[in-house]
Amino acid sequence: MTTTDLRSSILPTYGRYDLTLVRGEGSRVWDDAGTCYLDCIAGIAVIALGHCNPVVKAAAEAQLAKLWHVSNLYWTEPMLQLAQKLSDRFGGAGAQVFYCNSGAEGTEAALKYARKATGKPGFVAIESSFHGRTFGALSVTGQPAKRAAFEPGLPGASFVELNDTDALAQAVGPDTGAIILEPIQGEGGVNPVEQQFIEAARELATARGALLLFDEVQTGVGRTGTFFAWEHHGVKPDALWLAKGLANGLPIGCLLVANEAARGFEPGDHASTFGGNPVAAAAACAVVDAIDDALLAHVRAMGHRFTSGLRAIPGISNVRGRGLMLACDVEQPAGNVVVAAMAKGLLLGTAGSGSLRLTPPLTISADEVDEAIRLLGEAVA
Ligand SMILES: Cc1ncc(COP(=O)(O)O)c(C=O)c1O
Repeated sequence: MTTTDLRSSILPTYGRYDLTLVRGEGSRVWDDAGTCYLDCIAGIAVIALGHCNPVVKAAAEAQLAKLWHVSNLYWTEPMLQLAQKLSDRFGGAGAQVFYCNSGAEGTEAALKYARKATGKPGFVAIESSFHGRTFGALSVTGQPAKRAAFEPGLPGASFVELNDTDALAQAVGPDTGAIILEPIQGEGGVNPVEQQFIEAARELATARGALLLFDEVQTGVGRTGTFFAWEHHGVKPDALWLAKGLANGLPIGCLLVANEAARGFEPGDHASTFGGNPVAAAAACAVVDAIDDALLAHVRAMGHRFTSGLRAIPGISNVRGRGLMLACDVEQPAGNVVVAAMAKGLLLGTAGSGSLRLTPPLTISADEVDEAIRLLGEAVA
């Protein structure tokens, strides 16, 4: 049997491309025929420091040689070290972490935390948002087409249009336990939140006894040029969650609760067998250490370079995003452009039917950005 014959043994939840990838290094991946691709989607914003990053690999391997897994009834050193690093980044001692393995699990933890901490059933979320595919996360995802086949979801969710401050003020009531925001919507099309809206969300949450929750699964860990995307706005949430880039491709997620937030979880309230796995946590420590001021400045510089290069390509418009979380509109169906770019050795994503998404490794070089722009220009020509 060839690997192509085996494809039917996977449940068809994804529309996969006809491409089997076997190796990666830095910003590049290779397929099973030896063809090399410049990877400007990077696992959808996951491979923060490049494929097979040697420093992250060494940290994971050192932990693999010592201890792979113990029950969460015990402490391990990597989970504690990572919590300290994330708490420092979040601003101040005393922030607390719950570890899980993915973005959707981070959403679930946040929903349960808000319900427990406030005792209120309502969640106000944003239209076109995306928070994951588990039932709770799907219930606060503002994309009816993704929810349709699986209704009814979790009761208590309502949605307002992004950046409509009046609608938000009307939706947040005495029963609202949480307002849930992505600082830049990722899957929904790379739509940034406006300053006025995020400030209003903070004020409303505080005034009405709800928690302000930021889903930083895609925007976090340096992706937008600051460690957390909320830093651009100076509006700190009560809690946020991370996943994707945190361990450079090893599965990890976490909920990070601010010291000032209402207390929620007690022993027995929530759990995850693999949450805080020592190997993933050791890799995540190496990632967090690597995201220093110099790398964040590089992300901002490469973001500007990409943005101006994209704006110069005929047929590309509405270039948007921040740092290395970018999107643009194309005149042809975006899926066709992705396939044409792939044939030229460039991997890209889509953000809806008319937009391309670019989330390359944060370590992408200026030469690689220029190469991506040249290949994309050829693909849309
Ligand atoms: C903002 C956001 N939240 C949650 C998720 C779900 O993450 P996962 O696929 O790891 O469950 C995603 C995935 O794309 C995301 O972009």
